[in-house]
Formats: sequence, structure tokens, C-alpha cells
Amino acid sequence: MTGVDLGIPRVPGTRTAPDQPRPDDPALIDSFGRVATDLRVSLTDKCNLRCTYCMPAEGLDWMPGEDVLTDDELIRLMDIAVRLLGVTDIRLTGGEPLLRPRLEDLVARITSLRPRPRLSMTTNGIGLARRAPAFAEAGLDRINVSLDSVNPETFARITRRDRLSHVLAALAAAHEAGLTPVKINAVLLRGINDHEATDLLRFALENDYHLRFIEQMPLDAQHGWNRAEMITADEILDLLGAEFTLTPSPVERGGAPAERWLVDGGPHEVGVIPSVTRPFCAACERTRLTADGAIRSCLFSTTETDVRGLLRRGADDEEIADTWRDAMWGKLAGHEINEAGFAQPIRPMSAIGG
Ligand code: 5AD
Ligand code: SF4
Repeated sequence: MTGVDLGIPRVPGTRTAPDQPRPDDPALIDSFGRVATDLRVSLTDKCNLRCTYCMPAEGLDWMPGEDVLTDDELIRLMDIAVRLLGVTDIRLTGGEPLLRPRLEDLVARITSLRPRPRLSMTTNGIGLARRAPAFAEAGLDRINVSLDSVNPETFARITRRDRLSHVLAALAAAHEAGLTPVKINAVLLRGINDHEATDLLRFALENDYHLRFIEQMPLDAQHGWNRAEMITADEILDLLGAEFTLTPSPVERGGAPAERWLVDGGPHEVGVIPSVTRPFCAACERTRLTADGAIRSCLFSTTETDVRGLLRRGADDEEIADTWRDAMWGKLAGHEINEAGFAQPIRPMSAIGG
């Protein structure tokens, strides 16, 4: 299985993975030679914002409570992941992960797992300001905060909530608590916040936050994504170039999705994640667990593997680990956003985790 050309997701016909048998390897390998070591865990599909590119104003039908994994079930799966499957990094996501009750306790339990995974969280920051020290105390290593504008009106227009000050306070508190580097994820929307790209970068530079722009992907519940409307990575670089000089960062990208650029000669950097126009699927190291206990091998998977059923009928660790390995072995070469037959996954981003 090694030595296979990884191919690029633009190659048509990758909807099915090769059907050779899975080799006997404890890690989460796939048939294209990739190894998943980075686990994204969605803790809830609920959110207290309503970003227009994610959800309709009225929200969504949330998962029934009994379907959502309990803390004990989550810990059991994360323990299997780090102990038996070679996962080294765990990222908590949502919806909005801070809406999960007693999250500090869950964080402390995760950082007590052995081997200890590196632990980070992607959050919108609402309510984080006062909780940041407790998260640092519980062992959380880092956070990524979603922030698309530092202008209160634009922020409210995108998120449909007037909460910019809460997010700014969260960023400062996280930095203060040592949850560093504090990263910011920003999505640019044409005619809404694209003219503010340089404001965001200036804000990040002034406060020592690491800013990354993400190309908007077709993952919204309303299916409103439109290729012509999307601000491409190249456009983002042009927008930033109006005020800053960007040169390629010497840092190795590895499996990380962001293309990194030195700003005005460095040392500060800005990242651009060209998910659509320059997909990085060939270097993907991710596996995903949804809040209701499904393994997904990709954000864009149209199939998923239930492990909640296994857990609740008393399966042992090895059976669960093998089911997870099988799910990842079937991972496709990449998303096919750029293919004619592309079908958006049924689950929206908020129920998958970013
Ligand atoms: N395309 C790109 N990024 C998205 N996010 C949410 N929906 C999309 C989308 N359709 C981002 C959020 C957050 C992270 C979880 O993913 O802004 O930073
Ligand atoms: Fe909430 Fe994130 Fe979706 Fe915004 S993008 S509505 S913060 S889940």
C-alpha cells in the first residue's frame, strides 16, 4: 500500500476506494497511503450563533439528546483512538463545543489519557472569556476562534447576533491564559466582509493572534454555496497584498492545510486554507467523530460508520478499533467539489465539526 501515487482529488471516479483488503496495521491507514493521526470530535451540533454560511436564521433540528454520546462514551472512544489507533492530536469542535455541559471536566479527562494527546478546540468564543483559565488548568493546549470581522455591524450581519465584544474578550483571555498560539479562522464572503480582510490581519498582528482565511466550502445546511460567489485563496492574497507584502513562509506545511505567508518579512505570518481551489486531500491526516457517534473519514463523506450502536451493545475495544480502521480504510482520495457530479454531504458542517 505504500508507494501508491496519492493522486489528486480532481481525478474523476474516486467516489469508490480500491477494494483491496485492509493490511494488518494498528494505525488508521487508508488505501491511498495516508495515516490519520488527527481526530476531530464534534461535541454538539448546537450553536448560539447563526452564521449565514452555516445555518438558517431559525437554526436546525438539533440531534435528539439520547443520540448524543455521553462523556463516558466519548472518553472510551478517545482512549481507543490514542491507545490502539495511533491518534496523537484531538480537536474539539461543534456546532459550538462550549455549549456542552461541564466541558472543563471532559477536557481534564482527555488530557489524562495515555499516551496524552495534544488537545485543541475550535470555538466561536462566546462565553470563553471567563472560562479560559479553567480550560488551561484542565490541560487544553490551544484554541482556534472563528471570527470573520472586527467590525460590530459586519459581525452581526454574518453571525445574526450582536456578540463581537464577547469574542474579542475571549481572544484576549485565551492569550492571557496561555492557550497559545491563539488562532483565528476567518471566512470571507463577497460583498459582506471581503473589504475587511486587511482589517482582520492588522488586528491579528497587533494582538499576536495567528490568522487563517478559509475558502468557503459547500457545507451549509441551506445549500446556498455558489462557486462564483466564493472568495478564492488567490483573491484573498490579492486583497491582503494591497496593504502587506506576503512572502512564502519557510516552515514546512506537512499535513497542515494552511499555506503560510510571512507578513512584511516576518516574523508574523498569515495562513490561507485553499480547500476548494487547491485541495490538500492527498496530505490529509484526519479522522472524525460526530456528536451522535459516527466515524467519518472526510468532511465530505457521503457515508459514515456508526460506533454508538457498538458501544451501547457492549462491544469490546478491539471490535470498535477494527470498525474504525475499516471506516478509514475506505476513505476516498478526496472531495470532489470540483467535479461535475459533486454531491454535498447530507450533514451540514455544524453536525460534522470543522
Ligand atoms: N466553509 C468554510 N469554513 C466554514 N466554517 C463553517 N462553515 C464553513 C464553510 N462552509 C468554519 C467556521 C469555523 C470552522 C469550524 O469552520 O468559520 O471557523
Ligand atoms: Fe455556529 Fe460555527 Fe456555524 Fe457560526 S459557523 S453558526 S459559530 S457552528
